[in-house]
Amino acid sequence: MSDTCSHTNKIEDFKCIVVSSEALSDKIGWLTVRCRELAERILPGTCVMVFPSASNDPLLGRPFAVADVDVIKGELSVCYMVVGRGTEMMLRMSPGSEVRLRGPFGVPLPSVDGKINIAAGGAGIATFLYFAKKYPEKVADIFLGIPGCGYEKYADRISELIPKVRIFTDDGTCGEGNSMFNVLPKGLGESERIWSCGPPGFLKALKKHYEDEPDKLYFSLDKRMACGYGGCMGCVVETVNGQKRLCADQSLFRADEVTDYGN
Ligand SMILES: Cc1cc2nc3c(=O)[nH]c(=O)nc-3n(C[C@H](O)[C@H](O)[C@H](O)COP(=O)(O)OP(=O)(O)OC[C@H]3O[C@@H](n4cnc5c(N)ncnc54)[C@H](O)[C@@H]3O)c2cc1C
Ligand code: FES
Repeated sequence: MSDTCSHTNKIEDFKCIVVSSEALSDKIGWLTVRCRELAERILPGTCVMVFPSASNDPLLGRPFAVADVDVIKGELSVCYMVVGRGTEMMLRMSPGSEVRLRGPFGVPLPSVDGKINIAAGGAGIATFLYFAKKYPEKVADIFLGIPGCGYEKYADRISELIPKVRIFTDDGTCGEGNSMFNVLPKGLGESERIWSCGPPGFLKALKKHYEDEPDKLYFSLDKRMACGYGGCMGCVVETVNGQKRLCADQSLFRADEVTDYGN
């Protein structure tokens, strides 16, 4: 069994209406927009580009995993770290205003038979949230590491969406303690998996934790993305099986397949 999958999305631009834009900590934002046609096309693990301005400044869209979809309301949400100009502009978007999104792009998360555990750091959990909400029976445990104080609203939002999430905080102020590494399962069964996403240091620590069973650990990686169609080679990941494009070839990478952990 392989946790890889490829795609043929039809990528288009959509006019969306901002439903809400919230700060869930001083570093994390949550944007919900309405556009029924786009919401209905989202598969777990796929992404959208958000164009932060109606003008051409900034010109490029910012790529984000779709963190949640409400097909009944025709809404989708992205959860993002506020790191620069585009994400700061997203945080200031007003309810009722129009925003352009492009998508869906990227490779959907694969449908696997075995048990999946998810381990994520910070906003890295966004990639897996819609999968965990849509297929709760496929996810055994879901572990999230966050800084702690100041992230209570973020922890609450994730717990509302995925009640079984197990939260760990660096400062130990809430959740189950200060490190998921004390409880992450080892000695995984034949069809068990760990899917993960987070900062490079977190992924490296996971690789060390699972050094005796690297074939069980899979990374969702974050690279610079420009075209989203597979043409610019901007999102290439070097793997032992050659170069793979994040937007067109593969969504998850086996820990022993890559040495480059993304941005
Ligand atoms: C397929 C994909 C999915 C993503 N999903 C998410 C998500 O769900 N949540 C989330 O928080 N972020 C996600 N990212 C990263 C996100 O796109 C960037 O953080 C965002 O574009 C930064 O925009 P900005 O204008 O605020 O920053 P900029 O002003 O463009 O840059 C500010 C800083 O952010 C860094 N940065 C810019 N782009 C990226 C990038 N692509 N990856 C890492 N660092 C970057 C720059 O090096 C710089 O230091 C994803 C990236 C990709 C490629
Ligand atoms: S962004 Fe993947 S090839 Fe252009």
